[in-house]
Amino acid sequence: MIKLSPSLLAADFSNLKGDIGAAEKAGAQYLHLDVMDGIFVPNISFGVPVIKALRKCTDMVFDTHLMITDPIRYIDAFASCGSDIITFHYEACEDRNAVIDKIHSLGLRAGMSIKPGTAPEVLDGYFDKLDLILIMSVEPGFGGQKFMPSCLPKLEYCAKKIAALSHPCDLEVDGGINLSNVGEVISAGCDTVVAGSSVFGAPDISDAVRSFLQK
Ligand code: DX5
Ligand code: ZN
Repeated sequence: MIKLSPSLLAADFSNLKGDIGAAEKAGAQYLHLDVMDGIFVPNISFGVPVIKALRKCTDMVFDTHLMITDPIRYIDAFASCGSDIITFHYEACEDRNAVIDKIHSLGLRAGMSIKPGTAPEVLDGYFDKLDLILIMSVEPGFGGQKFMPSCLPKLEYCAKKIAALSHPCDLEVDGGINLSNVGEVISAGCDTVVAGSSVFGAPDISDAVRSFLQK
């Protein structure tokens, strides 16, 4: 069974507790938390105080996706507010090993993400150290965009590399995923699916979560 990581960005911000509760009760394992700084991406979302407050509402795994420049500056903050996994962008910093080591030093799982224009080969040399690889299937910054099939060969590439590792590593995809295209990303080797609009924007959040988990 896949792991589902509903993206909070598409939730009703006036009813976060209710929306999260519906996703959790229906079986979603992770909660995807999109943090944007207005520099790495042209949008600003939410940050530490919101995540800290939500930590009291749910036991879901907090899958924090940092779309921020120079992420090492904020690893302590996003660890202390309750993240379980912290994913940063390959394109957002120079010393990626330092960021991975920092996340691990705080006892959390470390993820690295690549944007649609970045080749998967840049991840060579990091697979051994990572607990999650996030392949973007849209340009980061906004929910509700159209899925880019160019992520599929990247997922296949990473799935092969991960199969050869001696430790567990999630292979996650993010952007434009819905019940019609999720089969394609699973066939390409993805085991962890981010879905915003197609979960929190669905007529019934619980039904949407259950339908994804049956895929
Ligand atoms: C985009 C974010 C995504 C977004 C996904 O920058 O990283 O997590 O919320 O939303 P949907 O599923 O609507 O494309
Ligand atoms: Zn995301």
